[in-house]
Amino acid sequence: MGIQITPSMLASDFANLETEAARISGADWLHMDVMDNHFVPNLTLGAPVIEALAKVAAQPIDAHLMIEDPDRWAPSYVEAGAQSVTFHVEAAKAPVRLAREIRAKGARASMALKPATPIEPYEDLLPELDMVLVMTVEPGFGGQKFLDICLPKIQRARTLIDKHGGDIWLQVDGGVSLDTIERCAEAGADVFVAGSAVFSADDPDAMVAELRTHAGRHTH
Ligand code: DX5
Ligand code: ZN
Repeated sequence: MGIQITPSMLASDFANLETEAARISGADWLHMDVMDNHFVPNLTLGAPVIEALAKVAAQPIDAHLMIEDPDRWAPSYVEAGAQSVTFHVEAAKAPVRLAREIRAKGARASMALKPATPIEPYEDLLPELDMVLVMTVEPGFGGQKFLDICLPKIQRARTLIDKHGGDIWLQVDGGVSLDTIERCAEAGADVFVAGSAVFSADDPDAMVAELRTHAGRHTH
């Protein structure tokens, strides 16, 4: 699939999501951060907002669920129109069943890991997944500083994914910018979330293109 850039709409103007999506027409996906004020100490948006944006946006929606009980709620995000749904493995009670349910409903199934969560215990789950998300900040807020300590885990995730041979994408999220994206690509990531880097730029779409070029210099 190659390099993909998935801007986080958390850093966009929530009063104008349709217009904001149109400002980043070169983006591969729209990353939507769902926070429930339980799994993370912040509250953002839910399925109704995703459903509204999915109807008007040109790009597909990548829903990142930072919520308790994804087993119960994740399927409703597929119904809302998200074409990729990411649950946190720390919150999932039955990640295999959940990934199968997301796929059965017609979306890509993805598993996220917080910075302190290792990938190794979940190696056997990889065939059930379309993407692994390695967080490079503690989830909850945009605009945080990139955590370099997560780079070895990106490398280890890449090794495991390659070993399994399937077409599993490796996404990074948190503090990704022109300064940090090359390190992530070098470690083996191929899908890049960027919130503040994209929406604080004068020309967000040009920033999407620039991030893509920088990542492309260091594909594994
Ligand atoms: C953090 C969210 C991220 C965030 C990224 O919990 O999952 O997607 O919006 O924002 P930046 O790129 O500003 O770190
Ligand atoms: Zn996110």
